[in-house]
Amino acid sequence: MMKTIFSGIQPSGTITLGNYIGAMKQFVELQDEYNCYFCIVDEHAITVPQDRLELRKNIRSLAALYLAVGLDPEKVTLFIQSEVPAHTEAGWILQCISYIGELERMTQFKDKSAGKEAVSAGLLTYPPLMAADILLYNTDLVPVGEDQKQHIELTRDLAERFNKKYNDIFTIPEIRLPKAGARVMSLQDPTKKMSKSDPNSKAFITLLDEPKLIEKKIKSAVTDSEGVIRYDRETKPGVSNLLSIYSVLGNISIKELEEKYAGKGYGEFKQDLAELIIEELKPIQKRYAELIDSEELDEILDRGAEKANYVANKMLQKMKNAMGLGRKRRR
Ligand code: TYM
Repeated sequence: MMKTIFSGIQPSGTITLGNYIGAMKQFVELQDEYNCYFCIVDEHAITVPQDRLELRKNIRSLAALYLAVGLDPEKVTLFIQSEVPAHTEAGWILQCISYIGELERMTQFKDKSAGKEAVSAGLLTYPPLMAADILLYNTDLVPVGEDQKQHIELTRDLAERFNKKYNDIFTIPEIRLPKAGARVMSLQDPTKKMSKSDPNSKAFITLLDEPKLIEKKIKSAVTDSEGVIRYDRETKPGVSNLLSIYSVLGNISIKELEEKYAGKGYGEFKQDLAELIIEELKPIQKRYAELIDSEELDEILDRGAEKANYVANKMLQKMKNAMGLGRKRRR
């Protein structure tokens, strides 16, 4: 039987080259071999304040981008989290078997709450909702970037805990990281990951950035004063980050790139990289423009929600039965 994949992306801004390289490119590669569910996790996005019109726009935009990068709606199930209520119900149940201590230990929670005065409870209980997303579909494999590793480990812990305590109903999912590009770094501070919510928009490239803007952002990417194109994460994080982006998008090894640019300056290297990114994004942006206002997009999302609701509700019912919620169904 075909194994199942689940993954999600937050509609909290236009997705970046980091999301694309770390997550979406994997999705496209895997869609032929797996039964895939891809989700626009809007309920995760509201763990921090969102403008309602922006959020609506970002949800639709992310849906169009999922398809524009090459996911085939005949093969994958694409849907919006809030259109499948089983997620929050299952999320609640999993919150009830999560410990506050383990949630407080999540690095994403620590990062996002550090120094803030008003931190939503949802930011803390975000990982059990993510676990629900995954576990509702009998997921075998979760393709993500490296920053999600800890959340997947928690998902496995929660699934094992539930299986042991109540009934053995959950598949224990495995994580899948890309071979290269699991952690694309900020262009402005290459010791931080590239993030779509970075207040400095020069730190990231979005999939919808115009060619001129991409060129500008790559040219202003932080490097170092050595002037040598060489991979060394420790002492040359900026150049190393650009090299790994180049390597993934150009399908060329870092070693070959070092040889290609031996004796050459950062200017030429950056120019070539900018062109490579622009070429990669061109067909995606073209397809995006066709999809964004189309009825086709709504039809795909309707079908996706219908299928996801069907599958997720079955597992939710199993969860409720295992815990003794509600009444026993005869059926
Ligand atoms: P999110 O929206 O932050 O990111 C979406 C995907 O992109 C990957 N990613 C990166 N990969 C490489 N380099 C980067 N700089 C980079 N930034 C982001 C992320 O690892 C992720 O794969 N909690 C998740 C969304 C989620 C989810 C799920 C994922 C909700 N439920 C269930 C998988 C399964 C998140 O915030 O991703």
